[in-house]
Amino acid sequence: MKDSTPAPQFSEATLEEFKQTLSRYPTRRAALLPTLWLAMREFGWISPAVEEYVARLLDLPTSHVHAVVTFYEMFHRKPVGKWHLAVCTNLPCRLRGADEIVAAIKNRLGIDNHETTPDGMFSLETVECLASCATAPMLQLNQDAYIENLTVESVLKLIEELARRAD
Ligand code: FES
Repeated sequence: MKDSTPAPQFSEATLEEFKQTLSRYPTRRAALLPTLWLAMREFGWISPAVEEYVARLLDLPTSHVHAVVTFYEMFHRKPVGKWHLAVCTNLPCRLRGADEIVAAIKNRLGIDNHETTPDGMFSLETVECLASCATAPMLQLNQDAYIENLTVESVLKLIEELARRAD
């Protein structure tokens, strides 16, 4: 049976960013990582169809794009929640309570690591050091914010605030 899901396609604005990105790199292949970041922002995750789309954009074999996507942990290979909580569980963060933070999130949201709440609002992922050890324990919220010096109370408050946000 033919798949009726529309093929991924960057918006006009993202296509323009993609063209600008290409102009900053000596080859199309060299622009793969920034193009994948654009794809993550646009589509939320890198599906096999998105891998094919990126491969076409950059004139690369899909197998090469797939190899890069699967090598780097930061590329989501399945849909994640609106709010993606990436909690660092390397040693400095663990020494300052990362395990309790993760347990509190799991307990509050009723999900395990690498899972998303049924309403699609929150995902949890434990990750390696995010280079913010001096403010341990910490988490990265989506791709753009570090929430630092966490306590069980502060992370539960964060979840409540995010759940209330309409945007
Ligand atoms: S160990 Fe957690 S940010 Fe470095």
